[in-house]
Amino acid sequence: MTEHRTRVDVGIVGGGPAGLMTALLLKRRGISAAVIETRTQEQIRHTQRAGILEAPTVNMLVEADVGSRVLTDGHEHEGTVLSFDGIQRRIDFQALVGRSVWLYPQNEVFHDLATAWQREGGEIHWAVTETTVEGIDTAAPQITFTDAQGQGRSIEADLIVGTDGSRSMCRKLIPEDVRTDHFISYPFAWFGILCEAPPTAPELIYANSEIGFALISQRNESVQRMYFQCDPDTDPEEWTEEAIFDHIQQVLGVDGEVQLKRGPIIEKTVLPFRSYVCDPLSHGRLVLAGDAGHTVPPTGAKGLNLAFSDVRALVPRVAEFFTELREQTPSAVVETPEPLRQYSRTALDRVWKAQNFSYWATNLLHRQPEENPFTHKRRRGEFDAITQSVHGQAYFADSYTGWSD
Ligand code: PHB
Repeated sequence: MTEHRTRVDVGIVGGGPAGLMTALLLKRRGISAAVIETRTQEQIRHTQRAGILEAPTVNMLVEADVGSRVLTDGHEHEGTVLSFDGIQRRIDFQALVGRSVWLYPQNEVFHDLATAWQREGGEIHWAVTETTVEGIDTAAPQITFTDAQGQGRSIEADLIVGTDGSRSMCRKLIPEDVRTDHFISYPFAWFGILCEAPPTAPELIYANSEIGFALISQRNESVQRMYFQCDPDTDPEEWTEEAIFDHIQQVLGVDGEVQLKRGPIIEKTVLPFRSYVCDPLSHGRLVLAGDAGHTVPPTGAKGLNLAFSDVRALVPRVAEFFTELREQTPSAVVETPEPLRQYSRTALDRVWKAQNFSYWATNLLHRQPEENPFTHKRRRGEFDAITQSVHGQAYFADSYTGWSD
């Protein structure tokens, strides 16, 4: 079958928020991009992911001109509640660090970006199969794939951006002798539910207790998102609606001030927990951004925000790379260009700060399988040290709302 060829400046593997935001911001700088994605647009739109956006993430959506739904439909949260054995303490982000976060689900972020990219006539292929990326160590890398209609295609580019998520195939193109995979797993997972009920609380509640962690989040006035700590092999079908709500209520404290608003559960999923960093994030004519380069446990709500901070670091470096490229004499084999090395260094500095916060918050808020009374009481001491002093609270607020670039 004849192959359709496209030639662009940048080929992007992965049409989630990181890939689409990169495509849009490059276009604003006169750099052309084409995007491919293995899932359908509908599949991504309906996959539940975390819902907390840091201020710079919101600013990027507004500045990328993808519509202001985040400002009209998103909810500004000026603080959050940390709870331990039924004791609730609020962290006032605005008072402590002068910043807020926004509750706006990631699938809505995706929808806004995909709509904007398609409205502007950006090239995107959904539901592709048989993807290969070749030549990242040459000056002419290319992506080949079969599109949703069964047509063989190729995209020739000067640079490939891998934003293909935590099971990234692009990452594996960085040779093993240059790549370090930093990885840890955790002995627990999150059981996530969506339910039809009014909000239990105006802000998020992150709770720990003798039976482990729970998180009360929201989606809108009539649909809520909640999670609780579970064993990684849990079968969601084994938990009845009543058992789920009773368990979450017990984490929050049965006779306390937070009384769970219950309602029909419309989705149940078990989410694995891991921390991963790929070092470096660039090699030859390939760069990685977002989950393709690093994964954090969801406790700190950092995943999407970290992907967007990668994109903020990446886009100016890609522009620099193209300026240099146009001034150079072409050669067959390429070293990793300096602007792309610089991107990797800048992005990884922030990634490790977020890894640390996500790991620390996970340990503060979860029960370990081998927990004894000492461990639980020590953790209560840590909770008090954080929540009873403005300095401890400010550490949490500063990290949670996101550091400036
Ligand atoms: C969510 O609303 O899905 C959510 C919020 C905060 C987190 C994780 C998930 O830390």
